[in-house]
Amino acid sequence: MSLLDDVTRLREEASKLIDSAETVEALDDLQITYLGRKGAVTAILKGLKDLPVDQRKEAGAQANKARAFLEAKIKTAREKLSVPQARSVFDPTLPGTGNRVGVRHIITQTINDICRIFHGMGFEIARGPDVETDYYNFEGLNFPPDHPARDMQDTFFVEHGRLLRTHTTPVQVRELERRKPPIKIITPGKCFRNEAISTRAHVAFHQVDGFLIDEGVTLADLKGTMVAFCKAYFGEDVKLKFRPSFFPFTEPSAEVDISCILCGGKGCRVCKQTGWLEILGCGMIDPNVLKASGHDPEKYTGFAFGTGVERPAMLKHKINDIRLFFDNDIRFLRQFG
Ligand code: DAH
Repeated sequence: MSLLDDVTRLREEASKLIDSAETVEALDDLQITYLGRKGAVTAILKGLKDLPVDQRKEAGAQANKARAFLEAKIKTAREKLSVPQARSVFDPTLPGTGNRVGVRHIITQTINDICRIFHGMGFEIARGPDVETDYYNFEGLNFPPDHPARDMQDTFFVEHGRLLRTHTTPVQVRELERRKPPIKIITPGKCFRNEAISTRAHVAFHQVDGFLIDEGVTLADLKGTMVAFCKAYFGEDVKLKFRPSFFPFTEPSAEVDISCILCGGKGCRVCKQTGWLEILGCGMIDPNVLKASGHDPEKYTGFAFGTGVERPAMLKHKINDIRLFFDNDIRFLRQFG
């Protein structure tokens, strides 16, 4: 047996014992046994001088290495054992960690809430594609080519003349093409606009559109439906204001403001001291839209409306930055469980 073999054997043996030591005292003993003044590794170092010169260098280097290695190992083990938590002590008085159940994203919840209200009024749900043609997104909705109204919605164009839909209103055209009145539908979904991202605007967002077509539908039906929806979603006390507006696919058109749900209409930062919040667009479906999809505007009339999803959710849950919805920070999302 050479001295080198002794070093290797001692190093392995000591290493195993250090690993299995359970107390600081046991480590102290090992330190003395292997590295102390009369310890095994020390003895080897002392014996080096009796070796032939050609073996001395290599054996000395290995023995010193083994000593450094064991010293470091004992030090780490001692540190571990001296931290009380490191010992696996079962404390039955600590509260359990439990299993968390996932929650639906707050946007999905809001869409479901809105759809549930309209479903209660007899509306069916329909969906359409996120990637649309110019026809469904614009032309079928009475936006003539090159009409300045197209600039109201900054569009992302994709290949083959398609675009990312800028609103969920195109589903109205798709459904009108394949159904006969009476039709009562809401269309939730994603929309995209080339907007600068800020606390209030994002390039991807959601809308719920809806429309109703039958014989003898009037503006009073539209008003009643909007009042019923806003009261159901925002609360019985909410007041509505119909403001004349313009959309190519409705005539007349209106925007609906609700009394600010944060200050009750007194004026605050969120409603910019006006007491009112703009919440949706609506109107009587333009005869051109009915005609383009093969319906007789002399026989049928209808109303349509479209609301964002992020804004009502922000107002209801007092969320001050639209980007929070899409960051998907689990601490934010968990609040809505
Ligand atoms: N599509 C419109 C927008 O995104 C909102 C809208 C207004 C939808 C009036 C409608 C409507 O269905 O009748 O700005």
